[in-house]
Amino acid sequence: MTNSTTGAHLDKQNRAAALIAECQLLAQMTEEPGLTTRRYLTPPVADVHAHLRRRMEALGMTVTVDAAGNLRGLWQPAGAPSRRLVIGSHIDTVPDAGAYDGVLGVVLALQLVEEAAAISLPLAIEVIAFSEEEGVRFSVPFLGSRAVAGRFDPALLALHDSEGITLDLAIRNFGLDPAHIEQAQVSEDAFAFLEIHIEQGPVLEAENLSLGVVTAIVGQTRCELQFSGQSNHAGTTPMSLRQDALAAAAEWITAVETAARQSLTRAESEDDGRSALVATVGKLAVHPNASNVIPGAVQVSLDVRAARDSIRETAVTELLHQAQAIATRRGLKLESKRLMDHPAVPMDEQLTALLALAVEAAGHPARRMPSGAGHDAMVLGTRLPSAMLFLRSPGGISHHPDESVLEPDVEAALQASLLFLRQLTRM
Ligand code: HGY
Ligand code: MN
Ligand code: MN
Repeated sequence: MTNSTTGAHLDKQNRAAALIAECQLLAQMTEEPGLTTRRYLTPPVADVHAHLRRRMEALGMTVTVDAAGNLRGLWQPAGAPSRRLVIGSHIDTVPDAGAYDGVLGVVLALQLVEEAAAISLPLAIEVIAFSEEEGVRFSVPFLGSRAVAGRFDPALLALHDSEGITLDLAIRNFGLDPAHIEQAQVSEDAFAFLEIHIEQGPVLEAENLSLGVVTAIVGQTRCELQFSGQSNHAGTTPMSLRQDALAAAAEWITAVETAARQSLTRAESEDDGRSALVATVGKLAVHPNASNVIPGAVQVSLDVRAARDSIRETAVTELLHQAQAIATRRGLKLESKRLMDHPAVPMDEQLTALLALAVEAAGHPARRMPSGAGHDAMVLGTRLPSAMLFLRSPGGISHHPDESVLEPDVEAALQASLLFLRQLTRM
């Protein structure tokens, strides 16, 4: 790796540390100084693009930005054109994020290009820094990878962010033309997709493992609900005459947690967790949000995930019914909207078997495991055979500034991925 600041070539001992330092540098490109917050096509994204473009051009890659804002670098080996492997992850973040979720997969991909070039690997490599995976700014995730997978619904352009800016305008404000999103689709010579990502959970650390091989990415549903009651005076309104939207939402949020906890208990007795689901209410907006006013309206989010789609779909239907029942009993109105329903996506079996062999050849057990987190690989995986490599998350923590990675695990991921690339040339 060439040091991204000095340009000096780094040997094996230093490359992992340099990649971690690069993630920390990119984490400072933020909407909120002191925190790492980088939503879709906000100004710090242009700074990340500039940094990655420099890195890509120094590697002799052809660099483009597609109409969905994905930054894409293509490395072609000399001689006859080769099949194209796509490697990528996302550069947007959740609010107050860590430094590695997404972006580590991009800087590792660029390191792999450097290593592949050094051995003239007969494999074209396209590195994609996906512009939007988290779904923070417009509440709908995977906007970048949907465009690459040819699954971008133009109706999404009408979505608006918290400032009322539409997705269409946000793309235009970034200097791009939404009319060209169709052209963002992955090229016909692409034969596989690889995503390298932190696990974001406790499993690898609990088993003291550096790497994990992802077998499938669990399905995910995201909804938005609004409980509408009656704002009124907190001092003069008897309890029996209230239509308190926040009290109703609170009752429902407790029911959401209870349902998920009960599903885990059932799963532990039935099938070692496969039918477990997780359910989260992460966003809450209260109107008018004053301590002496009974809340008249409350918006809440719902995020439900499960390895089995039938479990997830049943749970979402039941939770929306419960919300309606609570609202009706309390004399409130309920509105609910499904923002996204994404089925569980298995990783390609042949690629995953090759990746497992590469992990073992690098000297690590190939711990096969599902991903509870969503990833761009679940969208690309509906278009291209895809594989995912996990790195241990110390403390099992992510979507938090304490998110971290270990240098030996970064080095292990590089070695395993390079062995994987070599195997792909022999496929
Ligand atoms: O929410 C997720 O699973 C991912 O971090 N976007
Ligand atoms: Mn991620
Ligand atoms: Mn994330």
